[in-house]
Amino acid sequence: MQKHQSYQAAANALQDKVILVTGAGDGIGREAAITFAKHGATVILLGRTVAKLEAVYDELEQAGGTQPAIIPLDMKGATESHYRDMAATIVDQFGRLDGVLHNASLLGVLSPFDKIDLATWEDILKVNVTAQFMMTKALLPALLEAAHPSVVFTSSGVGRQGRANWGAYAVSKFATEGMAQVLADEYENTHLRVNVINPGATNTAMRSRAYPAEDKSKLKTPADIMNTYLYLMCDDSIATTGESLDAQTR
Ligand SMILES: NC(=O)c1ccc[n+]([C@@H]2O[C@H](COP(=O)([O-])OP(=O)(O)OC[C@H]3O[C@@H](n4cnc5c(N)ncnc54)[C@H](OP(=O)(O)O)[C@@H]3O)[C@@H](O)[C@H]2O)c1
Repeated sequence: MQKHQSYQAAANALQDKVILVTGAGDGIGREAAITFAKHGATVILLGRTVAKLEAVYDELEQAGGTQPAIIPLDMKGATESHYRDMAATIVDQFGRLDGVLHNASLLGVLSPFDKIDLATWEDILKVNVTAQFMMTKALLPALLEAAHPSVVFTSSGVGRQGRANWGAYAVSKFATEGMAQVLADEYENTHLRVNVINPGATNTAMRSRAYPAEDKSKLKTPADIMNTYLYLMCDDSIATTGESLDAQTR
């Protein structure tokens, strides 16, 4: 097991930090938002299904931590001006942004390469790559206002080694790894760090769509893999940049 996989964050490790989580209404993003809030962060919940975001919001309010914020946004349709407005609102409300977890992604349909239709390809590349580019670009000024800002992208095993039938999703995850490397290199001599997490097989709706017949009881849950997420958002990782970390060992 790698060190970050068994990382134990102090109870208040994220106190006074403002962290944006995309895809915060479900799966790994939901768990990450709740975990960050439990460790003291003010979380900004971004996603496309308002009811799911509201459910997370209510859960956090009942837990009695700092008040979260909600940004309903469909990254498939959002343009640069949406992200600029979003960044301006965050600066107005909080003055800075300490962390971003780029977690929302589309899986699409697993199919052979020659059966991928262009519309599906474009949707996946839009949500998984272009939206993250636009969002990160818009948020950089707010991030640079923070003392130890952390940008975390989400990859996949198929973002490191291509696999038959994983098509646009796999290509998008290679692009995500590349985007993180470019950014990490550009900001190497600054206080901004940029890293990637590969969650590994985790019991979520996306995993069920990819492997409908597997025994889910053998999978890790989102809660099982949170140590690496906490590590990359906490100040214990301020010297870590340009890394692609596995949240679990298989
Ligand atoms: N689970 C795994 O085994 C696994 C393995 C490797 C990598 N990953 C990666 O881990 C991340 C989280 O995956 P997950 O398994 O938790 O997936 P999930 O359960 O499907 O959750 C994905 C989240 O992204 C949101 N989202 C999707 N399209 C969006 C859009 N257009 N605009 C805004 N939000 C959007 C979804 O919103 P809705 O709730 O509204 O649908 C959902 O909240 C993804 O980047 C995925 O590629 C997962």
